[in-house]
Amino acid sequence: MAIQFNFVSSMLILVLLSISSVEGQGGGGGGVIDVVAKFGAKADEKTDLSKPLLDAWKEACASTSPSKIVIPKGIYFLSTTTLDGPCKAPIELQVQGTVKAPADPGAFKEPKWIAFNRIENFKLSGGGVFDGQGTTAYKREGCKGHDYCGSLPINLRFDFLTNAMIQDITTKDSKQFQANVLGCKNITFEHFTVSAPDESPNTDGIHIGRSDGVNVLNSEIKTGDDCVSIGDGSKNLVINGVTCGPRHGISIGSLGLFKNEEPVDGVTVKNCTMTNTSNGVRIKTWPGAEPGTCSNIHFEDITVTNVSSPIIIDQKYCPWNK
Ligand SMILES: *[C@@H]1O[C@H](CO)[C@@H](O)[C@H](O)[C@H]1NC(C)=O
Ligand SMILES: *[C@@H]1O[C@H](CO)[C@@H](O)[C@H](O)[C@H]1NC(C)=O
Ligand SMILES: *[C@@H]1O[C@H](CO)[C@@H](O)[C@H](O)[C@H]1NC(C)=O
Ligand SMILES: *[C@@H]1O[C@H](CO)[C@@H](O)[C@H](O)[C@H]1NC(C)=O
Repeated sequence: MAIQFNFVSSMLILVLLSISSVEGQGGGGGGVIDVVAKFGAKADEKTDLSKPLLDAWKEACASTSPSKIVIPKGIYFLSTTTLDGPCKAPIELQVQGTVKAPADPGAFKEPKWIAFNRIENFKLSGGGVFDGQGTTAYKREGCKGHDYCGSLPINLRFDFLTNAMIQDITTKDSKQFQANVLGCKNITFEHFTVSAPDESPNTDGIHIGRSDGVNVLNSEIKTGDDCVSIGDGSKNLVINGVTCGPRHGISIGSLGLFKNEEPVDGVTVKNCTMTNTSNGVRIKTWPGAEPGTCSNIHFEDITVTNVSSPIIIDQKYCPWNK
């Protein structure tokens, strides 16, 4: 009887200890940081989320134990932000709400809305939505000219990230590319949803360049331009379980358009479905002075429905491996 009592009371102490250690994490750096509860963010669609988010980011990034920033359910307005590393420990941004961009393209000084820069062990999650409010930009004249399009903001930039996971996130109605991956090592998009009307110009779903180890898995991409576009210097890419359409399919290139381009090496596209697109899978290069090259390209198990050109290779310089 006495032994049993001791056993129960020591269980109780263990439970109390573990509760207090969870609370301790929240206070002393790391743990869960709620931008509304802790930094006064407001889900009223007009108060700028930029400062509360940056304050939360500074605290999380300086923490020596893993931390998670939460943007709770609700609709927020965010003018623009760049969240910079390096951070001292793994960091997660959990977006449960909808975050809206300024509708006016003139509100942006740089061609980006939200950028994640030089972070290791980063996760973006939560089922939330990034709404670029691009419909006003689509209506503007002149987006066929590259310069005007290029000056419009990209919804989500992932620059120089190492070991990153982007999971259960939606990006919609970007004014330019929906997501751009540059200089990353080991980044995975899973259950990533892209949506924009098919008449939205230059809104590539995910554009990848100069990155090693990019996975795009089980994702749905409906947008006005390429579903996934792969630029120079991309290595070891796997695109599996992606649904594309309308507009274009998955494109490697354009390659060879600029000087000093790096080759594309190792792209596997499998188990993908394209519906109502002009192309399925495409390799496009320009036969310029410095031809773009690509190798180890595998396309397999791709289902196309109502696609004008299921496979196109429109250049001279690509060694076609499979
Ligand atoms: C790649 O990144 C993921 C996090 O998204 C991590 O779990 C995994 O261990 C990393 N892989 C390598 C080889 O570092
Ligand atoms: C094929 O893609 C679907 C999503 O479209 C996914 O659920 C399934 O697991 C994938 N199959 C394989 C063998 O990877
Ligand atoms: C095929 O796709 C085009 C858009 O690329 C669309 O206009 C057309 O209605 C589609 N046809 C069918 C039969 O789904
Ligand atoms: C393809 O286009 C047809 C006709 O516009 C439309 O009914 C159908 O829903 C589209 N399919 C997809 C998967 O978008």
